[in-house]
Amino acid sequence: MILEKYINKLREDNKLTVVSRSISKNLEIAGVLSAIEPKPVLFENLSDSDFRVAGNLFCTKSQIADYFGIRTEDIIPTLTKAIENRSVPEEVTEATCQEVVHDGVDLSQLPILVHNEIDGGPYISSGVVVAADPDYGQNLDFHRAMQIGENRMVARVVQGRDFHRFLEKNGEVDVAFCIGNAPEVLIAAATSVETGINELEIANALQPIKVVRAKTVDLLIPAECEFVLEGRVILDEKHDEGPFIDLTETVDVVRQEPVFEVKKITHRKNAIWQGLLPGHAEHKILMGMPREPTVYKKVKDLGIDVIDVNITPGGSSWLHVAVKIRKKYEDDGLKAIEAAFAGHHSAKHVWIYDEDIDIYDRQSRYDREWAFATRFQADVDLLIKDKEPGSSLDPSAESGTKLTTKCGFDCTKPLETEGKSYERAKFPSVDLKKFLGE
Ligand SMILES: Cc1cc2nc3c(=O)[nH]c(=O)nc-3n(C[C@H](O)[C@H](O)[C@H](O)COP(=O)(O)O)c2cc1C
Repeated sequence: MILEKYINKLREDNKLTVVSRSISKNLEIAGVLSAIEPKPVLFENLSDSDFRVAGNLFCTKSQIADYFGIRTEDIIPTLTKAIENRSVPEEVTEATCQEVVHDGVDLSQLPILVHNEIDGGPYISSGVVVAADPDYGQNLDFHRAMQIGENRMVARVVQGRDFHRFLEKNGEVDVAFCIGNAPEVLIAAATSVETGINELEIANALQPIKVVRAKTVDLLIPAECEFVLEGRVILDEKHDEGPFIDLTETVDVVRQEPVFEVKKITHRKNAIWQGLLPGHAEHKILMGMPREPTVYKKVKDLGIDVIDVNITPGGSSWLHVAVKIRKKYEDDGLKAIEAAFAGHHSAKHVWIYDEDIDIYDRQSRYDREWAFATRFQADVDLLIKDKEPGSSLDPSAESGTKLTTKCGFDCTKPLETEGKSYERAKFPSVDLKKFLGE
């Protein structure tokens, strides 16, 4: 879907904050987005760019569920189905993302945001990168990129990502950085699936999309994105990248990363730039949510009756996993911990809960901590793993090797309760209107 259609729908439903006063791409937009998160915002009048900017569009699971017209509890099955039943998108020859084709490249015309005073420069943070390899075909990944000149950027490419593999194999790789995407493309790009799977086919299974051939590189790109920056990333041409805020809201170190040479800019008429605050809710949702189906599947594959998985925001939507199961055997909890780690290698701590626990902690009863306090015994319910590689984003992991100590907490109650009470006491349910009025 074209992002503006969705933005117009938000406007009709009174869910959009519109800023029509003059505002700068330099720090001011990020400041507003941060202050009013998770409210979606459209900035109509930039003092330093002719384009509009939108942000906070998909900060919560319910915003994403609303977009797809499903319930939040249907997100995991919907994603699982799309990953398993991929389908090829329709290829078109004319596309909205190519309505305007620039002759030269001048990145300063674009509303590339400066998010924070410590940032090394203006950053693209919502860019979905389409790349290809002769053996594996096309791939989608997210890569932030810092502007370092009129037509040059430096991209952050984490080792082990498919795109990193393509770069190591080929030295230089043609790319299209696509900015301004709807959730089907954003979520598909954030999934970690086998190398060789074209995530555009996952996007198409989530919601039918169209693809078009890019103008100067041999890649099929999402036809309805807002902006496309075509060019190539060169492994051996390195530049300082950072500082920049990462997912854990801490400042990431400056590294030598590959340069992205921009050769062509295309966009939709009246295109809207997609802002995405690093370390904030939208970044977190897009990182964590696509891992929930893989955790779910690994737990289910062990024969455990898994009900739900939440990669929790307090753990930066990356390091902490809460799993809800219907326990049948005494060792289900400990087994589920191992399975959860197998489904998300970057996780550091895993908690397993019974079906009566709200793993989203939506009410003020602190369900997760309550279960931890009343159902967990460290001598039998704690699983500590030997040091192994975890997340590069965890500042407490060993730098360079990512070695970390992972552990899991089985917060399920025993099947044999031996007369003890593990349930929350229930209070009488009354008709409040009878006593308090309307
Ligand atoms: C908003 C967002 C920003 C991201 N930024 C980067 C980045 O700058 N560099 C990077 O290597 N991965 C980044 N990632 C993570 C990867 O894109 C993601 O884990 C990847 O799609 C895994 O796919 P792969 O297993 O196909 O490589 C980001 C993810 C999200 C959701």
